[in-house]
Amino acid sequence: MINYGGSSDPFFRGRHFITLDDFTKEEVDVMLDVARDLKIKFYRGEPTPLLLYKVLFLIFFDQSTRTRNSMEAGIAQLGGTGIFLSPDKMQIAHGESARDTAIILSRFGDGIGIRHCTFGVGNRYIRSIAENSRAPVMNLQDDVYHPFQALADLMTIQERFGKDLRGLKVTISWAYAKSHLKPLSVPQSQILLFTRFGMEVTLAYPEKFDLMPDIVEKAKKNAEEHGGKLNIVHDMDEGFKDADVVIPKNWGGFFVLGNAEELLSMDPAEAMNVLKENEKLIWEETEKHKDWIADERRMSLAKKHAIYMHALPADRGREVVDSVIDGPQSVVFDEAENRIHTAKAVMALLMGGRM
Ligand code: CP
Repeated sequence: MINYGGSSDPFFRGRHFITLDDFTKEEVDVMLDVARDLKIKFYRGEPTPLLLYKVLFLIFFDQSTRTRNSMEAGIAQLGGTGIFLSPDKMQIAHGESARDTAIILSRFGDGIGIRHCTFGVGNRYIRSIAENSRAPVMNLQDDVYHPFQALADLMTIQERFGKDLRGLKVTISWAYAKSHLKPLSVPQSQILLFTRFGMEVTLAYPEKFDLMPDIVEKAKKNAEEHGGKLNIVHDMDEGFKDADVVIPKNWGGFFVLGNAEELLSMDPAEAMNVLKENEKLIWEETEKHKDWIADERRMSLAKKHAIYMHALPADRGREVVDSVIDGPQSVVFDEAENRIHTAKAVMALLMGGRM
């Protein structure tokens, strides 16, 4: 365990976890060191009561398997309690403000986690909770960021390729799916984080399926500052070629009408209306790219030792074929498992665990 002289690290305690961009690379390294230590202790069966009697509120506006359970099981394994809250059973449903909700919950407990992925709304809501909370607020995925996922992904890549990831070729690719307009937050958090570790990131997606322009600019800046790269290509094969890591996953075509700047500057309700009106066109554009699937031929374009990753849940048969996701190059279950070790590390550091 990291030695902070018997008390929790003052540089983490009480801070909000909305995006990993708010933490230095060295601080992200500490999170990963703590996560690795907690993983070893979990396997040894050693108790880790770093957050005894602490209470974490978990508000989920959207569905979740990994995030909810990694937080709930994680806080229990640290000696605290997680309280699952569904907004439709809270006074939020009757219009109670983010400010009042934040003040009350942060007086009752020691942390607040929120998932809110609604386009144009989620990140603003979480920031509003954070501004009014006296306890740390953790982003469990919003419309812009999914920091817990990116951290677990980084841990998984380091387990396979070592801590020094400079020059590692990582491809984050769009893949076809048709279940719902999936948030942009996973690829966005990945490009922001991986470029800071000197990786050569290729972002592959069909024309028009852009991510948020300011996030892509920030990722390019991160790459410049940390010796990484961010290349954008519009061909899945080209993306897979010679990659060490491939991460093909669907995201919604929020900007297929070329209206990114306009949508992002709109009032949330107005943006939702525009998206609803254009949903048919978005799906028509999505249907043109059914061939964006991770299959064995594409995996053979990557390096022999390449690993396949996916945040899950995967849209099997559309994003990926079974033989790839269940095959020898897939690390998706290690990646999912690392969600709990990284979640515990972040909770322990932010909520004042004794190290
Ligand atoms: N990857 C991820 O966040 O999974 P859940 O949606 O199940 O939480």
